[in-house]
Amino acid sequence: MEFIDEKLENYSLVHTEEEPEILKKLNRETCLKVMRPRMISGHLQGRFLSMLSHMICPKRVLEIGTYTGYSALCIAEGMPADSELITIDINEELTPMVEKYSQLYGMQDIVKMIVGDASQIIPSLKGSFDLVFIDADKENYTLYVKQCLDLVHKGGYIVIDNVLWSGKVIAEKSHMDIETKAIDQVNKFVATCPHLQQILLPVRDGLMICRKIS
Ligand SMILES: C[S@@+](CC[C@H](N)C(=O)[O-])C[C@H]1O[C@@H](n2cnc3c(N)ncnc32)[C@H](O)[C@@H]1O
Repeated sequence: MEFIDEKLENYSLVHTEEEPEILKKLNRETCLKVMRPRMISGHLQGRFLSMLSHMICPKRVLEIGTYTGYSALCIAEGMPADSELITIDINEELTPMVEKYSQLYGMQDIVKMIVGDASQIIPSLKGSFDLVFIDADKENYTLYVKQCLDLVHKGGYIVIDNVLWSGKVIAEKSHMDIETKAIDQVNKFVATCPHLQQILLPVRDGLMICRKIS
């Protein structure tokens, strides 16, 4: 099954826009120098985020979980010149790499990184957002969605990464670890939230796309 999945993913990549050179470099440098490089969005999901951003043309984006800035730069591709992407990460050691690649990609005026615990920072943010991308510590996913519901205007979007969690979400509840339970919880929260229209896409590790409807 995994073999077929891998072949299909390769087929999808071959028929998807090529990864931009600078993002390829960022991907490579992340793999060489940063812990847990599997966390990076990567080619396929990155192109999906770019496409989504071009469709929405968001002027204000909040990202929770910057890592080395790959997904932030993909989203920034679809944002107009005078827009703002605030991205939060608890790991300050990542800042130089995020700044370096934002500069190389010409997105330094759009991407603003805040270092700190997202659950503490989100309530201090002012104004509303057109798009929120949640891709940080899984245990806090439901909290992040609840915190962001007030920050996203009606018609705005919340995108949540890793909602299939390598397929572990369909395991028996008694066999689920803490992170899997947290992912299952956020999926159930979103699916029953009257303020959101949602679709769970089985892209890569699962992407939940939510639109605020009320
Ligand atoms: C999966 S990575 C993000 C990947 C990135 N969005 C990308 O696609 O390239 C998750 C990030 O969340 C950060 N993180 C974990 N807990 C956090 C917290 N409480 N507040 C803010 N960031 C956190 C980690 O330091 C890590 O860089």
